[in-house]
Formats: sequence, C-alpha cells, structure tokens
Amino acid sequence: MSRSAELARLIRDRAGSAPPDYGLVLGSGLGHLGGMVQGVGIPYADLDGFLHAGVSGHVPQLYVGALEGRRVAVFGGRAHYYESGRADAMRLPLEVLAELGCDRLILTNAAGSLRDDMPPGSLMLLSDHIAFAGTNPLIGEATEARFVPMTDAHDPGIRADLRDAAAAEGVALPEGVYCWFSGPSFETPAEIRAARVLGADAVGMSTVPEIILGRFLGLRCAAVSVITNMGAGLSAERISHDHTKAMAPLGAEKLERVLRRFLRD
Ligand code: HPA
Repeated sequence: MSRSAELARLIRDRAGSAPPDYGLVLGSGLGHLGGMVQGVGIPYADLDGFLHAGVSGHVPQLYVGALEGRRVAVFGGRAHYYESGRADAMRLPLEVLAELGCDRLILTNAAGSLRDDMPPGSLMLLSDHIAFAGTNPLIGEATEARFVPMTDAHDPGIRADLRDAAAAEGVALPEGVYCWFSGPSFETPAEIRAARVLGADAVGMSTVPEIILGRFLGLRCAAVSVITNMGAGLSAERISHDHTKAMAPLGAEKLERVLRRFLRD
C-alpha cells in the first residue's frame, strides 16, 4: 500500500470515512483557526512522513470534522520550501487529502502587500501567481502527469463563491497576483520593486508549490492571503516574523468569517 493510502486509512480510522468536501491549509499566525473544526485533531507526529512545520504561528495538526455543515480536513500548519529545500514538502499531505476523496483545496497564507489599497489587515484573493522562487515541486516527477496546465489554476468557480461570501460578510476581498519568493529572508526593496514591475500585488513564501501540487493531483484550488505588512521599502514598518504573527489576527478574523460563510452557502 502506498504511504498516502496508509495515512488515509489511519485518518479514516480516527475521524470516520466520509470524504472531506474541502481541504484547508492554514498560514502563519492562522493555525488557531483549526480549532473551528468540530471533530478530531491528529498531530503531524502521528502522520509518518508529514514534514513538521517548525514555524511558530503554525499548529502541526490535521483537523478532520465538521465546519458550517461541511466536512473539512484542515492542515493547521504547512511545511515550507525554505525549511527543507524541498519544494514538494507538502506533496504527501496533499496526496493524502486526495486519497481521502477530497477534490477541493483552499490555501491561506500571510503575505506582504505591494498595493496601497491593501494595507496590513486586508485580505487578497489570489487570481493567479508567479513562481519567482525558481523551482517547482514536480521536478523529479517521472510521469507525463508532471506537465500540469496552470491556466485557471486558481479556480474561477471557487473564487466567485469566495467573493460572494466576502460581499455577504461586508469584507473587502480584492483579487491579485501572488509572487512566491523562497524566503526565509524577507525581500529587499529592490526585489519588491521588481515584483511590482512583473505584475505582482503581494509577496509570500508559500502556497504556490501547493497550488501546483494540488492541480497535479486534480484538486480544484483557491488561495487567500492575509496581508500582514507592506512589502519591504514600501512603508516605515519593520518587517519580521514576530510582526507577521502580531498582524495576522487582524485579517484572520475577517478570513474566518469569509470562510465560514463560504462553507455555509
Ligand atoms: N514577504 C514574504 N513573506 C511574507 C511577508 C513579506 O513581506 N509578509 C508575510 N509573509
């Protein structure tokens, strides 16, 4: 049996066998949102091969259960490329999600904004992305399935539903392009100017590999950023991981309302 099939069996044994309607991945400072789920929490330590997200502000648990009448599988933390040098660090968790019979994936992250109309505390719905980190989680994949089309990688239907949910909650949810930098150092002001020229609206260190892997696995994907700061050089604030964690709750409250409404409707 493949490792993802074994892990899916372990999860079914503990959480029941109904397939999740949605998989959710929680970003920096958003890990506590896993507590919204009525169900069971499975520590990543019990899930052999899940790379432990060692970044504070993440909760290394998979929550499986009910949220707003839907069945969800929520990853309280993600493994990042910059932790291991492996762009495919999230491959096994997403394979397990697919193995559980889930076919929709919503990703969240903390990001820096390149737009004055998206100050810290704002949300941004990803309309598209730029894989600026220069690597790809499917490098080494030996099958023809590696040639994944990335047009509409950010699912138009899910995005429309997220925009409707945000409107119903009175939460602004502008769309924009997310540019993936490897991290873990933050960007330089020159890199932020470059990202702007390239057409980015926000920058961050995650999510893009998971979108690529998600599409590879046949999942419909969408992602929402919580803006925690302006990109380097765009404001006087000092960018740091502590700052990210301190600012994430500002947007997290709105994100939670949008996600709840999205699931409910
Ligand atoms: N850059 C990259 N990643 C981030 C940022 C940023 O400014 N803010 C939160 N995550």
